[in-house]
Amino acid sequence: MKNDLRQQLHLEPDKGWLNDPNGLCFFKGEYHVYFQYSPESAEGKSGRCWGHWKSADLLHWRFTGTVLFPDSPDDRNGVYSGSAFVKGDTLYLFYTGNVKEEGNHDYTTSGRGANVILVTTQDGHNMSEKRTLLRNCDYPDYCSCHVRDPKVWEEDGQYHMVLGARTLDDKGCMLRYVSDDLENWKYEKTVWGSDCSYMWECPDEFVLGTKRFLSISPQGLKHEKYFSQNVYSSGYLDIDKGTYTEWDCGFDFYAPQTFKAPDGRRILIGWEGIGDIPYTNPTVALGWQHCLTLPRELTLSPDGGILQQPVRELQALRKESAGLRSGGTVKAQLPFEITGTTQDEFTVEFKDVLRLKKSGNEFSLEFTNDSAGCARTVRYAQLGRCEDIRIIADKASVEVYLNGGEKVLSSRMYPDSTELSLTADGIDAVIYKLDGIEVISDE
Ligand code: FRU
Repeated sequence: MKNDLRQQLHLEPDKGWLNDPNGLCFFKGEYHVYFQYSPESAEGKSGRCWGHWKSADLLHWRFTGTVLFPDSPDDRNGVYSGSAFVKGDTLYLFYTGNVKEEGNHDYTTSGRGANVILVTTQDGHNMSEKRTLLRNCDYPDYCSCHVRDPKVWEEDGQYHMVLGARTLDDKGCMLRYVSDDLENWKYEKTVWGSDCSYMWECPDEFVLGTKRFLSISPQGLKHEKYFSQNVYSSGYLDIDKGTYTEWDCGFDFYAPQTFKAPDGRRILIGWEGIGDIPYTNPTVALGWQHCLTLPRELTLSPDGGILQQPVRELQALRKESAGLRSGGTVKAQLPFEITGTTQDEFTVEFKDVLRLKKSGNEFSLEFTNDSAGCARTVRYAQLGRCEDIRIIADKASVEVYLNGGEKVLSSRMYPDSTELSLTADGIDAVIYKLDGIEVISDE
């Protein structure tokens, strides 16, 4: 069947542009996923708003519409990224109000207002008045006017906020603030890394098991074969060890955010896309662009790193299955999942679309067809022994989880047909046909 490129498993807007996930939380019995949204422009050329989906089970979603607009003096050029905090029966949403002053400015050292704004809501979509809590004058003097993306949490009887920032001498860093009431915030300290980035976006500090991590999306890292292959990077700092590990080695991943589910799981959702790319995604001509990643459960690996797996709820989408074994060929209809064990070296091929290959300590995801890859070529991950693989292929994307989620590669793909021909070597796997998630819209 001809592929209309409409995702079946991933959240994407019906029309317009999506970027970062925002305000992820569980509130009044439902998961809430807000996102950076330009409803009027698939190329993201209109002012950023927040759109909103909610779901009781991560499978049946409702789009309640655009819930925050750049309609006040303190956010007139964009309701930028931010986070949610649940207190009693109220949801507190913190975001960056982006303001561009008239005049001759570079908008880095002057001319940009970066306001931390608070709104509250009782139902997730009807918002209170906006209240500005922090302005440029509240940030350290060495900061440029790129300060944004508040993430708020409670710990040790206090509220904490982190903000991503760029200094006047082009170093990426994170600002930490504390508060007793969620409204009055006091500067605490700046956190620096040892990288060569000029800006950290979307910081997110969290504890997993016994360890503390800091997720950041740094810009300006040096590009290497196995590291920072995309225009911008995104990964986590192990605060004790000072090491930085990328979340995802695929073509399309940026600006993730995590939250805690009511059962204690830490769940991550990223933007399955990235800014300033050299590709024109074919959905732009159809009126929309970009989607979110699948929600992923995070767990600590035995060596103290983080493992990622699609949330277990998605297993309910599995339908008929068939075996996919070395030497075999199977026809499969998107969306589908492949899960199984691997020999240390293996290949899975989506005929005339892409090749997934492990050879030595290198895994590669390589497009074998220009139009399916849409200018994407090859991405690598370094991986020692690999024992298992999980591939979730949607109508216009693929997510590959290797060795229990030690490495993940996410990429958009645009095959002409929804029927793919698969071959494999060095794996013993099951392929499931998948039902889609359900998304209904109030609009
Ligand atoms: C990351 C980002 C954020 C910002 C938002 C604007 O992709 O640049 O730093 O708040 O997107 O849409």
